[in-house]
Amino acid sequence: MTDISTRKADHIALALQSSHQASQGAGFDRIRFEPNPLPQISLQDVEFNSDFLDRRVAAPFMIGAMTGGCDNGEMINQHLAEAAQTCNIPMSLGSQRAALERGLPQNVRRWAPSAIVLGNVGATQLQQHGLDLAKRAVDSVEANALVIHLNPLQELIQPDGDRDWNKVLEAIQHCADKLNVPVIVKEVGAGMGPNSVKKLMDAGIKWIEIAGRGGTNWASIELSRNGSEREREIASAFLEWGMDTVEILPAVHAACPSLNFIGSGGVRNGLHIAICIRLGAKMTALAQPFLAPALISTEAVIEKISIVEEQLRWAMFLTGSQKLSDLRKATLQKSFNQRI
Ligand SMILES: Cc1cc2nc3c(=O)[nH]c(=O)nc-3n(C[C@H](O)[C@H](O)[C@H](O)COP(=O)(O)O)c2cc1C
Repeated sequence: MTDISTRKADHIALALQSSHQASQGAGFDRIRFEPNPLPQISLQDVEFNSDFLDRRVAAPFMIGAMTGGCDNGEMINQHLAEAAQTCNIPMSLGSQRAALERGLPQNVRRWAPSAIVLGNVGATQLQQHGLDLAKRAVDSVEANALVIHLNPLQELIQPDGDRDWNKVLEAIQHCADKLNVPVIVKEVGAGMGPNSVKKLMDAGIKWIEIAGRGGTNWASIELSRNGSEREREIASAFLEWGMDTVEILPAVHAACPSLNFIGSGGVRNGLHIAICIRLGAKMTALAQPFLAPALISTEAVIEKISIVEEQLRWAMFLTGSQKLSDLRKATLQKSFNQRI
């Protein structure tokens, strides 16, 4: 395996360990809906079909970015892609860097011919290789949009990580200008606050995936893979680096109401999805929760999707929300209303 593939394989193994999930959680337990014991709707009438990138999808959540080019990445991607196709929910690919560098076939369209599939490259790779890399990432999988990930802390902890981020914003702007599919910019678990979001909006970005703190902890994962004692001591100060998903969402939504936000980072069930929607997200993403099922089978991923959907349905029923537009107005418990 190449270095990138070894790294990816390590990431998959480590992401499954609970010790590399954020110790504090994403803060979802601090936000509570006011229960509505008179829902005045029937569970079966709850609807959460959503529009995403001008297409109708079955639910407001997607499979978050995980795998690209490592040896079991293909099997994981097949299970995720077949499930995305069957359930009509979008799927975000993990970084395509290794596959593009090694010229590997990317077969995702064989398994998901009509699902929404998002391509993925790192911001610093884009800075180095420019629009050509972005186009190859999109064309190789007929992607409906390209996700560019921002991961400066992860790069710092990786021994060979990119330290020069001077031209990243310009590269993103150029890509948003010239690419013939939408560009989505995401973090990987430390979140993105209003200042960065405004810069991205000015650069022409319309979709942001915030990937806040509270789920998969990349500092912890990279730290366990790498480093001399000195490097580990430096990095250990940043283990809890980031902003909680539930705190960022209302802040960025208030700062940039015209932008489309994907709530992610520590989203673990359908109730968390409902909270993200209530706090301003149009779409949500879960990455790590789909990893264990994806190692088993397509059916296991489909089962996980259907459980998450049922949890969302219950959350909507219990708040008397027949549609997502009702959920967006659902009452939060008083102490939370005062803050949001
Ligand atoms: C095994 C694994 C690999 C990942 N690889 C990528 C990647 O290649 N590109 C990317 O943008 N995000 C990647 N992520 C980050 C996720 O997309 C997500 O932003 C982050 O894990 C927070 O979501 P979670 O708490 O639901 O896992 C990866 C996550 C996991 C668990």
